[in-house]
Amino acid sequence: MRFRSFMPGDAEFCFHLRNQAFIDLFREELQPEGVAAAVNAYQPADYTRMAGQGSLFIVEQKGRRAGFFYLKRIETAVAELCLIYIDPRLHGQGLGSGCIEFIDRWVSSHWKAVSTLIVDTVIPGYNAQFYQKVGFVPLQHTVCNLSGMPVKALRLSKQVLPSS
Ligand SMILES: CC(C)(COP(=O)(O)OP(=O)(O)OC[C@H]1O[C@@H](n2cnc3c(N)ncnc32)[C@H](O)[C@@H]1OP(=O)(O)O)[C@@H](O)C(=O)NCCC(=O)NCCS
Repeated sequence: MRFRSFMPGDAEFCFHLRNQAFIDLFREELQPEGVAAAVNAYQPADYTRMAGQGSLFIVEQKGRRAGFFYLKRIETAVAELCLIYIDPRLHGQGLGSGCIEFIDRWVSSHWKAVSTLIVDTVIPGYNAQFYQKVGFVPLQHTVCNLSGMPVKALRLSKQVLPSS
């Protein structure tokens, strides 16, 4: 598994991977209007914009793109894992947990004052168990804004593990 920074040519990959998750994996948990709002929330150009505002990484496996994740520092001591998507054909092979281990290392060496990582999920039935397996704990109920539509979400947090 290899991690590299997003490049403009990755925008379509990120766009399609996230949309595929909402359409194929999350539609049982989200109402159809929630899926539509989520799909409309980001266009390919938004990934290029986000890369300039936070830290957008591409995950590669065997030389091919396998996923991406997006980190943003929202307070001096708090960063948010805004997006994390792994190719569904590669789920369950340790890539997601590998991303979290990389995030711990990267945040503790680049954003030294950050001690807490948060994530808001609108599909906790689908992925809260993953987050808890990699060290997050449920913190509070919250609301995410998807294309102007408020959607119930669960916020989880974890302490950033300093590099050893
Ligand atoms: C959630 C996601 C990132 C996990 O990535 P992954 O590569 O499949 O995760 P891993 O293989 O590293 O799994 C780590 C552990 O979590 C568990 N796990 C992973 N996904 C799970 C799920 N959906 N439900 C329950 N457990 C899950 C694994 O079984 C594994 O447990 P183990 O350590 O006991 O073996 C991936 O499934 C994904 O991209 N899902 C769609 C997008 C998504 O939900 N993104 C988050 C939006 S908020």
